[in-house]
Amino acid sequence: MTSFRDFEHERWQEAVETYAGFWAGLTRQTIRPLLDALEVSPETRLLDVSCGTGHVAAAAVSMGASVAGIDFSSVMLARARRLHPTLDFRLGDAEELEFPDESFDAVAINFGMLHFQHPERALAQAHRVLRPGGRAAFTVWAPPDQSRAFEVVYGSIRDYGTLEVPLPPGPPFFRFSDPEESRRILLETGFQEPRIESLRLTWRVPSAPALLRAFEEGTARTGPTLLAQRPEDLVRIRSAILERASGYEGDGGLEVPMVAVLCRGRKESGSCFADDS
Ligand SMILES: C[S@@+](CC[C@H](N)C(=O)[O-])C[C@H]1O[C@@H](n2cnc3c(N)ncnc32)[C@H](O)[C@@H]1O
Repeated sequence: MTSFRDFEHERWQEAVETYAGFWAGLTRQTIRPLLDALEVSPETRLLDVSCGTGHVAAAAVSMGASVAGIDFSSVMLARARRLHPTLDFRLGDAEELEFPDESFDAVAINFGMLHFQHPERALAQAHRVLRPGGRAAFTVWAPPDQSRAFEVVYGSIRDYGTLEVPLPPGPPFFRFSDPEESRRILLETGFQEPRIESLRLTWRVPSAPALLRAFEEGTARTGPTLLAQRPEDLVRIRSAILERASGYEGDGGLEVPMVAVLCRGRKESGSCFADDS
Protein backbone atom coordinates (compact mmCIF):
# COMPACT_ATOMS: atom_id res chain seq x y z
CA MET A 1 0.00 0.00 0.00
CA THR A 2 1.12 3.59 -0.66
CA SER A 3 2.68 5.24 2.38
CA PHE A 4 0.67 7.91 4.16
CA ARG A 5 3.27 10.48 3.09
CA ASP A 6 2.98 9.55 -0.59
CA PHE A 7 -0.81 9.55 -0.34
CA GLU A 8 -0.75 13.07 1.15
CA HIS A 9 1.77 14.21 -1.44
CA GLU A 10 -0.35 12.98 -4.32
CA ARG A 11 -3.43 14.70 -2.91
CA TRP A 12 -1.67 18.03 -2.37
CA GLN A 13 -0.35 17.97 -5.92
CA GLU A 14 -3.95 17.82 -7.13
CA ALA A 15 -5.83 19.85 -4.52
CA VAL A 16 -4.14 23.22 -5.05
CA GLU A 17 -6.82 25.06 -7.04
CA THR A 18 -9.68 24.03 -4.75
CA TYR A 19 -7.58 24.53 -1.61
CA ALA A 20 -6.58 28.02 -2.72
CA GLY A 21 -10.13 28.85 -3.79
CA PHE A 22 -12.01 27.70 -0.69
CA TRP A 23 -9.72 26.88 2.23
CA ALA A 24 -7.00 29.51 2.04
CA GLY A 25 -9.46 32.26 3.03
CA LEU A 26 -10.08 30.31 6.24
CA THR A 27 -6.50 29.28 7.07
CA ARG A 28 -5.43 32.89 6.45
CA GLN A 29 -7.45 33.91 9.55
CA THR A 30 -4.90 32.34 11.91
CA ILE A 31 -1.85 34.07 10.41
CA ARG A 32 -1.87 37.13 12.63
CA PRO A 33 -2.21 35.20 15.94
CA LEU A 34 0.42 32.71 14.70
CA LEU A 35 2.92 35.46 13.86
CA ASP A 36 2.14 37.28 17.12
CA ALA A 37 2.79 34.03 19.03
CA LEU A 38 6.16 33.89 17.27
CA GLU A 39 6.85 37.55 18.21
CA VAL A 40 7.72 38.35 14.61
CA SER A 41 9.58 41.64 14.13
CA PRO A 42 11.84 43.11 11.43
CA GLU A 43 14.77 41.23 13.04
CA THR A 44 13.09 37.82 12.71
CA ARG A 45 14.34 35.09 10.34
CA LEU A 46 11.25 32.93 9.91
CA LEU A 47 10.76 29.51 8.32
CA ASP A 48 7.25 28.76 7.03
CA VAL A 49 6.98 24.95 7.07
CA SER A 50 4.38 23.38 4.74
CA CYS A 51 3.90 26.87 3.37
CA GLY A 52 1.29 25.92 0.74
CA THR A 53 0.56 29.00 -1.35
CA GLY A 54 2.82 31.10 0.87
CA HIS A 55 0.41 33.40 2.67
CA VAL A 56 2.06 33.03 6.10
CA ALA A 57 5.48 33.80 4.61
CA ALA A 58 4.10 36.84 2.78
CA ALA A 59 2.45 38.20 5.94
CA ALA A 60 5.71 37.80 7.89
CA VAL A 61 7.57 39.70 5.16
CA SER A 62 5.01 42.50 5.38
CA MET A 63 5.96 42.74 9.08
CA GLY A 64 9.60 43.20 8.06
CA ALA A 65 10.82 39.62 8.71
CA SER A 66 13.13 37.72 6.39
CA VAL A 67 11.51 34.47 5.37
CA ALA A 68 11.95 31.10 3.70
CA GLY A 69 9.10 28.70 2.97
CA ILE A 70 9.18 24.97 2.29
CA ASP A 71 6.55 22.57 1.04
CA PHE A 72 6.72 19.10 -0.53
CA SER A 73 4.17 19.91 -3.22
CA SER A 74 5.74 21.38 -6.36
CA VAL A 75 2.30 22.50 -7.54
CA MET A 76 1.66 24.42 -4.29
CA LEU A 77 5.09 25.99 -4.59
CA ALA A 78 4.51 27.02 -8.20
CA ARG A 79 1.44 28.91 -7.02
CA ALA A 80 3.29 30.43 -4.05
CA ARG A 81 6.06 31.66 -6.37
CA ARG A 82 3.53 33.10 -8.80
CA LEU A 83 1.74 34.98 -6.00
CA HIS A 84 4.94 36.11 -4.23
CA PRO A 85 7.71 36.11 -6.83
CA THR A 86 10.35 37.76 -4.64
CA LEU A 87 10.11 35.27 -1.74
CA ASP A 88 12.34 32.25 -1.12
CA PHE A 89 10.21 29.08 -1.51
CA ARG A 90 11.91 25.68 -1.64
CA LEU A 91 10.77 22.15 -2.28
CA GLY A 92 11.39 20.16 0.88
CA ASP A 93 10.03 17.82 3.50
CA ALA A 94 8.99 19.09 6.92
CA GLU A 95 10.49 15.94 8.44
CA GLU A 96 13.94 16.47 6.87
CA LEU A 97 14.62 20.18 6.72
CA GLU A 98 17.58 21.11 4.54
CA PHE A 99 18.68 24.09 6.60
CA PRO A 100 21.65 24.35 8.97
CA ASP A 101 21.21 24.07 12.73
CA GLU A 102 20.15 27.27 14.52
CA SER A 103 19.47 29.22 11.31
CA PHE A 104 16.03 30.69 12.21
CA ASP A 105 14.44 32.71 15.02
CA ALA A 106 10.94 31.38 14.38
CA VAL A 107 9.24 28.41 12.72
CA ALA A 108 5.55 28.61 11.68
CA ILE A 109 3.49 25.54 10.72
CA ASN A 110 -0.01 26.65 9.71
CA PHE A 111 -2.26 23.56 9.40
CA GLY A 112 0.64 21.28 8.47
CA MET A 113 1.04 19.10 11.58
CA LEU A 114 -2.17 17.19 10.88
CA HIS A 115 -0.79 16.13 7.48
CA PHE A 116 2.62 14.78 8.45
CA GLN A 117 3.33 11.08 8.72
CA HIS A 118 5.67 11.72 11.66
CA PRO A 119 4.70 15.07 13.19
CA GLU A 120 7.15 14.61 16.06
CA ARG A 121 9.99 14.48 13.49
CA ALA A 122 8.79 17.74 11.97
CA LEU A 123 8.81 19.43 15.40
CA ALA A 124 12.25 17.98 16.19
CA GLN A 125 13.49 19.44 12.91
CA ALA A 126 11.91 22.80 13.76
CA HIS A 127 13.75 22.65 17.08
CA ARG A 128 17.05 21.85 15.35
CA VAL A 129 16.90 24.79 12.92
CA LEU A 130 15.92 27.28 15.64
CA ARG A 131 18.54 29.33 17.45
CA PRO A 132 18.55 29.04 21.24
CA GLY A 133 15.57 31.04 22.52
CA GLY A 134 13.80 30.73 19.13
CA ARG A 135 10.08 29.98 18.89
CA ALA A 136 7.89 27.49 17.05
CA ALA A 137 4.12 27.64 16.64
CA PHE A 138 1.61 25.48 14.82
CA THR A 139 -2.13 25.46 14.21
CA VAL A 140 -4.51 22.51 13.85
CA TRP A 141 -8.28 22.12 13.77
CA ALA A 142 -10.35 21.68 16.93
CA PRO A 143 -12.67 18.63 16.81
CA PRO A 144 -15.93 18.57 14.83
CA ASP A 145 -18.09 19.67 17.79
CA GLN A 146 -16.27 23.01 17.52
CA SER A 147 -15.13 23.04 13.88
CA ARG A 148 -18.61 22.57 12.51
CA ALA A 149 -17.74 21.96 8.85
CA PHE A 150 -16.14 18.67 9.92
CA GLU A 151 -19.32 17.71 11.75
CA VAL A 152 -21.35 18.48 8.60
CA VAL A 153 -19.23 16.05 6.60
CA TYR A 154 -18.24 13.38 9.13
CA GLY A 155 -21.72 13.36 10.69
CA SER A 156 -23.21 12.69 7.24
CA ILE A 157 -20.69 9.91 6.54
CA ARG A 158 -21.43 8.36 9.94
CA ASP A 159 -25.18 8.47 9.26
CA TYR A 160 -25.19 7.00 5.75
CA GLY A 161 -21.80 5.40 5.13
CA THR A 162 -18.66 4.35 6.94
CA LEU A 163 -15.49 5.97 8.22
CA GLU A 164 -13.73 2.61 7.87
CA VAL A 165 -12.26 3.04 4.40
CA PRO A 166 -8.96 1.62 3.14
CA LEU A 167 -6.75 4.73 3.20
CA PRO A 168 -3.04 4.50 4.06
CA PRO A 169 -2.88 4.67 7.87
CA GLY A 170 -1.71 8.00 9.29
CA PRO A 171 -1.80 9.78 12.65
CA PRO A 172 -5.30 10.75 13.87
CA PHE A 173 -6.39 13.96 12.15
CA PHE A 174 -7.53 15.57 15.43
CA ARG A 175 -4.58 14.33 17.54
CA PHE A 176 -3.24 17.81 18.34
CA SER A 177 -6.68 19.26 19.01
CA ASP A 178 -6.09 17.81 22.46
CA PRO A 179 -4.11 20.45 24.40
CA GLU A 180 -2.48 17.78 26.56
CA GLU A 181 -1.19 15.95 23.49
CA SER A 182 0.14 19.18 21.95
CA ARG A 183 1.82 20.14 25.22
CA ARG A 184 3.31 16.66 25.46
CA ILE A 185 4.78 16.63 21.93
CA LEU A 186 6.22 20.14 22.37
CA LEU A 187 7.96 19.14 25.60
CA GLU A 188 9.07 15.79 24.15
CA THR A 189 10.72 17.49 21.15
CA GLY A 190 12.64 19.86 23.43
CA PHE A 191 10.45 22.96 23.62
CA GLN A 192 9.79 24.87 26.81
CA GLU A 193 6.84 26.96 28.02
CA PRO A 194 4.24 25.23 25.80
CA ARG A 195 1.11 27.33 25.43
CA ILE A 196 -2.12 26.30 23.78
CA GLU A 197 -5.06 28.53 22.88
CA SER A 198 -8.24 28.34 20.80
CA LEU A 199 -9.04 30.75 17.98
CA ARG A 200 -12.65 31.23 16.89
CA LEU A 201 -12.97 31.63 13.12
CA THR A 202 -15.78 31.85 10.59
CA TRP A 203 -15.51 29.97 7.33
CA ARG A 204 -17.33 31.91 4.61
CA VAL A 205 -18.22 29.60 1.75
CA PRO A 206 -20.41 30.74 -1.17
CA SER A 207 -22.90 27.83 -0.94
CA ALA A 208 -23.51 24.31 0.35
CA PRO A 209 -22.37 22.74 -2.97
CA ALA A 210 -19.18 24.81 -2.70
CA LEU A 211 -18.56 23.38 0.78
CA LEU A 212 -19.03 19.87 -0.55
CA ARG A 213 -16.58 20.59 -3.37
CA ALA A 214 -14.07 22.11 -0.93
CA PHE A 215 -14.03 18.80 0.96
CA GLU A 216 -14.15 16.46 -2.03
CA GLU A 217 -11.40 18.17 -4.02
CA GLY A 218 -9.49 20.38 -1.60
CA THR A 219 -8.57 18.07 1.30
CA ALA A 220 -6.12 15.23 1.80
CA ARG A 221 -8.12 12.61 3.73
CA THR A 222 -11.74 13.75 3.77
CA GLY A 223 -12.17 13.79 -0.01
CA PRO A 224 -10.88 10.22 -0.47
CA THR A 225 -12.99 9.09 2.52
CA LEU A 226 -16.08 10.42 0.73
CA LEU A 227 -15.14 9.01 -2.64
CA ALA A 228 -14.46 5.57 -1.14
CA GLN A 229 -18.12 5.16 -0.09
CA ARG A 230 -20.44 2.80 -1.95
CA PRO A 231 -22.04 4.79 -4.84
CA GLU A 232 -25.58 4.46 -3.41
CA ASP A 233 -24.35 5.64 0.02
CA LEU A 234 -22.41 8.51 -1.48
CA VAL A 235 -25.59 9.89 -3.05
CA ARG A 236 -27.28 9.97 0.39
CA ILE A 237 -24.16 11.33 2.10
CA ARG A 238 -23.86 14.17 -0.41
CA SER A 239 -27.49 15.21 0.05
CA ALA A 240 -27.10 15.00 3.86
CA ILE A 241 -24.03 17.27 3.62
CA LEU A 242 -25.93 19.79 1.50
CA GLU A 243 -28.83 19.79 3.94
CA ARG A 244 -26.67 20.14 7.06
CA ALA A 245 -24.50 22.81 5.43
CA SER A 246 -27.54 24.89 4.46
CA GLY A 247 -28.19 25.27 8.20
CA TYR A 248 -25.28 27.74 8.23
CA GLU A 249 -26.68 30.05 5.59
CA GLY A 250 -26.05 33.70 6.33
CA ASP A 251 -25.99 36.87 4.25
CA GLY A 252 -24.48 36.01 0.88
CA GLY A 253 -23.42 32.42 1.60
CA LEU A 254 -22.56 30.03 4.43
CA GLU A 255 -20.95 31.18 7.67
CA VAL A 256 -19.59 28.10 9.38
CA PRO A 257 -18.06 28.36 12.86
CA MET A 258 -14.57 26.83 12.97
CA VAL A 259 -12.06 26.70 15.81
CA ALA A 260 -8.31 26.49 15.36
CA VAL A 261 -5.93 25.40 18.11
CA LEU A 262 -2.74 27.45 18.25
CA CYS A 263 0.21 25.75 19.99
CA ARG A 264 3.59 27.32 20.71
CA GLY A 265 6.87 26.60 22.45
CA ARG A 266 10.30 28.09 22.91
CA LYS A 267 13.71 26.50 22.45
CA GLU A 268 15.87 26.72 25.56
CA SER A 269 18.14 29.79 25.57
CA GLY A 270 21.92 29.27 25.56
CA SER A 271 23.57 28.62 28.95
CA CYS A 272 24.42 31.61 31.14
CA PHE A 273 28.13 30.88 30.46
CA ALA A 274 27.53 31.24 26.72
CA ASP A 275 25.57 34.46 27.33
CA ASP A 276 28.37 35.86 29.46
CA SER A 277 31.18 35.10 27.04
C1 LIG B 1 -3.58 22.40 4.77
S1 LIG B 1 -2.27 22.87 3.74
C2 LIG B 1 -1.64 24.29 4.62
C3 LIG B 1 -0.94 25.25 3.70
C4 LIG B 1 -0.55 26.59 4.30
N1 LIG B 1 0.34 26.44 5.42
C5 LIG B 1 -1.77 27.38 4.72
O1 LIG B 1 -1.73 27.99 5.78
O2 LIG B 1 -2.75 27.45 3.97
C6 LIG B 1 -1.08 21.63 4.12
C7 LIG B 1 0.23 21.81 3.35
O3 LIG B 1 1.17 20.89 3.93
C8 LIG B 1 2.00 20.42 2.89
N2 LIG B 1 2.64 19.21 3.40
C9 LIG B 1 2.05 18.08 3.86
N3 LIG B 1 2.97 17.21 4.28
C10 LIG B 1 4.19 17.78 4.10
C11 LIG B 1 5.52 17.39 4.36
N4 LIG B 1 5.80 16.19 4.89
N5 LIG B 1 6.53 18.25 4.08
C12 LIG B 1 6.26 19.46 3.53
N6 LIG B 1 5.01 19.90 3.23
C13 LIG B 1 3.98 19.07 3.54
C14 LIG B 1 1.04 20.24 1.72
O4 LIG B 1 1.68 20.15 0.48
C15 LIG B 1 0.17 21.48 1.87
O5 LIG B 1 0.68 22.56 1.12
